[in-house]
Amino acid sequence: MVDQDRATEIREQSRDWPSVDLGPRQLCDLELLINGAYSPLDGYLGAADHRRVCSEMHLADGVFWPIPVVLNIPDELADTLGAGDAVALRDGEGVMIAALTVEECYQRDLDAEIEAIFGTADRSHTGVAQYLHRTRRWAVAGRVEALQLPVHYDYPELRRTPAEVRELLSLLGWRKVLTFQTHRTIHRAQRAMMVEAAQNVDANILIHPVVGLDQPGDADHYTRIRCYQEVLPKFPDAMAQLNLLPLAMRGGGAREALLHAIVNKNYGSTHLMVDFDGSGTVLDTVGEAAYTQEDATRVISEHAADVDVEMVPTRDLVYLEDRQQFVASSDVSPEDRVLHLTAGEIRMRLDDGREIPNWYTFREVARELEHRHPVRRKQGFTVFLSGLSGSGKSTIANVLRVKLLELGGRGVTLLDGDLVRANLSSELGFSKEHRDLNIRRIGFVASEITRAGGVAICAPIAPYDVVRREVREMIQPCGGFVLVHVATPLEVCEARDRKGMYAKARAGIIKEFTGISDPYEVPGDADVVIDTTELAPAEATREVILYLERQGYIWAPDEG
Ligand code: PPS
Repeated sequence: MVDQDRATEIREQSRDWPSVDLGPRQLCDLELLINGAYSPLDGYLGAADHRRVCSEMHLADGVFWPIPVVLNIPDELADTLGAGDAVALRDGEGVMIAALTVEECYQRDLDAEIEAIFGTADRSHTGVAQYLHRTRRWAVAGRVEALQLPVHYDYPELRRTPAEVRELLSLLGWRKVLTFQTHRTIHRAQRAMMVEAAQNVDANILIHPVVGLDQPGDADHYTRIRCYQEVLPKFPDAMAQLNLLPLAMRGGGAREALLHAIVNKNYGSTHLMVDFDGSGTVLDTVGEAAYTQEDATRVISEHAADVDVEMVPTRDLVYLEDRQQFVASSDVSPEDRVLHLTAGEIRMRLDDGREIPNWYTFREVARELEHRHPVRRKQGFTVFLSGLSGSGKSTIANVLRVKLLELGGRGVTLLDGDLVRANLSSELGFSKEHRDLNIRRIGFVASEITRAGGVAICAPIAPYDVVRREVREMIQPCGGFVLVHVATPLEVCEARDRKGMYAKARAGIIKEFTGISDPYEVPGDADVVIDTTELAPAEATREVILYLERQGYIWAPDEG
């Protein structure tokens, strides 16, 4: 961080500098560089550092560093930059966070980097594929001078820098600090595990949730932090503190564990416990996490001298009803009555409005979760009808809209194919790219409606599987998503030919017409399949209504 005078000087000079607008992940790296969590790094790696970090986990000057921290830039910018030039690093709103003095621009060995981060360069691994998708070959190296930390308006009192945390720990007189790094809600089992582990090593506890990539608009972020705040007083007197860690996980393997160890060491930890559930890590070819808790523990132990933090493994605890306590699953005897609930079971309970048992979590946490996940009858949902032109999508969509309005309780928005094309997507044609863009726009609008507790009924052709799944993933975290395949056969649709389009498509007057000269990929993941050949509109719509009732989204009183 520079002082006032230098900040003024940089601001004045920066008017002619090129800028790099940082994405959320890049901003996390920059924040950790500025706040000292990445110490001893004071900038982005150069070519020699990059090579040596990838091959042997050391910077060119011999200092231990496990993972490349690079700033990748567009080719056009790399062409114009030379040593000594300055670049303004800006956040998403254009606010200048830091100045970078260029040492060099270089094309890095991406295979070596990927191998280093993920332990494999296999492109079929999701983590590797995503990493390749979001990075570029050119990187710019240099020292960073910060004008300010990235701006966060949420929970400023919990966003202490490493120096501030260390100062607090010293004020509290904590000599040993067990950090619990997590991205999940903490319940009674995790609390019991932390307390036991801390007592074993005679340490206090720093709860360190990773919040780097949470979106500010994402309700889960606030729920999660409110839950941590509720859990904090449940620890024995003055045993634990809470701080937010602005880190973006790379989804990597062992070397990422070492990076976490260094970061937490900089925050003052002596012991580290990583709440590891395998999510967000590289998957192997059968879909299992390629990197486990044991791997993390082993690699940190092997490099104990380099990272100077002791890894404490997490333990799988289960609740014994008779003894009314949590024990390690390995200590359970056959006569014990064991209670255990998975995250999926908790979600189901919330959906159905069943209570989360008191043995599982604290009442205050349960209340927060119930508030965040209302029962299905109060959640928003999207009904997404996909099928050929003339298959009956619009008819079902219209009848469904009327029936849901009759039931009341939620606002209903119809996003019919033609309607969307007249308004939201009026400039788009029917190439694959344009169709996908059209469906993404529909998905975005539907996700916002669903998030706000409403019902979105979408009725586009949506011929491509990948983008349909993308829309499902976009909407499911906001509420319900029901994919209805209106599977009326092509012959029937063509015979109906209400708009005369099939005739024109057959005559070649309309090009790229779905079913005739363009593909329709049959959904393999439809929740409801309806062939309208022999069904009246009300009958076809009943299929959807019945499904929504079975899933608990609606309850039609006339059905008892
Ligand atoms: S997509 O693929 O989901 O983006 O299509 P969608 O937005 O639903 O638009 C389909 C409607 O546009 C008319 N139309 C065509 N459909 C398919 N292929 C081609 N080439 C085409 N050109 C125009 C057609 O009337 C569709 O309306 P529906 O209501 O489905 O019959």
